[in-house]
Amino acid sequence: MKRQKKDNIILIGFMGSGKTSIGIRLSYKLQLVVEDTDKIIEEREGMPISEIFKAKGEGYFRNLETGLLREIRDSDGRKIYSLGGGTPVQLQNQSLICQCGKVIYLRAKPETLYARLKNDTTRPLLRCDDPQERIRVLLSQRTGVYERCADFIVDVDDKEQGEVLESILEYLEQKTISEEKK
Ligand code: S3P
Repeated sequence: MKRQKKDNIILIGFMGSGKTSIGIRLSYKLQLVVEDTDKIIEEREGMPISEIFKAKGEGYFRNLETGLLREIRDSDGRKIYSLGGGTPVQLQNQSLICQCGKVIYLRAKPETLYARLKNDTTRPLLRCDDPQERIRVLLSQRTGVYERCADFIVDVDDKEQGEVLESILEYLEQKTISEEKK
């Protein structure tokens, strides 16, 4: 897979893995702007993701994700981006993601995700009779993709957000030192 050329920090992982909140905490710590690609899409479309899925279909939403990744790849500067949980699934997105920056995968077990998401009403893919099974199936389909895209994987189960943050900061620091040595 083509590795990155940008200095952004890209957070990937399943819905409920903590990308948004870790992104915000990283942004304070590193004094970088954080962007949430779902929010950008919602603002541009003037409606929540669930409405986009309903009114225009999932395929339309997936194309918007790909377009946004191209914009990130072609943009200057350094930011933190939190991606939608399904963004890495499309093949064309995978190399784009890797070109956008350092990719950090927040890995969580299905039980952890279900516990966090069971009362959620904002994720259209989990509006089904058996959200627990849907999480298990989607996660098993996506795990390989997330792992292949990742430069760094942090397991989030049973960890406080502060610990997750520390692991990421440690990784970024090591990365910077090894890049400076080159
Ligand atoms: C999706 C994840 C969501 C959002 C959309 C589809 C997915 O983002 O993009 O509901 O396919 O996993 P979050 O991971 O931020 O919830």
